[in-house]
Amino acid sequence: MSKFFALIPAAGSGSRMGDELPKQYLPLDNKPMIYYALKILCKTPQISRVFVVLAPYDNYWTQYDWSEFSEKLVVLNCGGATRAESVVNGLAASQHECTVDPNDWILVHDAARPCLSLSQLEKLINALENDEVGGLLAIPVADTLKRSDTEARVQHTESRENLWQAQTPQMFRYDLLARALENTTKITDDASAIEALGYQPKLVHSDATNFKVTYPEDLALAELILKERKL
Ligand code: CTP
Ligand code: MG
Repeated sequence: MSKFFALIPAAGSGSRMGDELPKQYLPLDNKPMIYYALKILCKTPQISRVFVVLAPYDNYWTQYDWSEFSEKLVVLNCGGATRAESVVNGLAASQHECTVDPNDWILVHDAARPCLSLSQLEKLINALENDEVGGLLAIPVADTLKRSDTEARVQHTESRENLWQAQTPQMFRYDLLARALENTTKITDDASAIEALGYQPKLVHSDATNFKVTYPEDLALAELILKERKL
């Protein structure tokens, strides 16, 4: 039986957020943002370990108490210059921490998606656990899409047919993901590396609450969703 692991890349600086505190530590309902990704992944019974990839110079992590996650949490101080590098380094380092079979699953999930729900996560695992390739949570594009020039003038309208917005977690087998990421540059998600090898990751229908907190105005919405869940 394949095991399930999770990896949270959390070595970014949050440049679009524009705060001195890296985005993953910004407070949401009195907890640092990354707390929520950790909580949901650690409480999912199928997942046996949760790896967090921090920047080597991270001075923030140790300022919080993470003891409630001690059963599954493994901290790796090996983040890289890009998200993809952080994932590659994390995959390599995680294999020194525990026994991993090449066929085991790894779910890569952004620290910046604090609103992932248990039902979205379970849907992903159930949809993919017998899949050859693996896949990701995603939502069909709902808005009309405009392609612009550099002056923000519309050049043309793009068709949104069969277009999806990729989210995380993205779930692939350890060996396939490690091989895929070896050969890629300039990717913004793990699935693109798998696609570059000629595979077709499965899109598992999610919803908009699992959005990526990117800009300052996203914080209030994330907090609202998290508070609503607690009620
Ligand atoms: N990430 C990482 N290592 C990097 C860059 C990003 O581990 N060198 C992580 C982020 O911490 C985040 C996830 O990848 O959890 C998604 O990245 P993103 O939302 O783009 O976060 P940042 O890169 O921090 O933000 P920005 O792009 O605005 O700088
Ligand atoms: Mg980024």
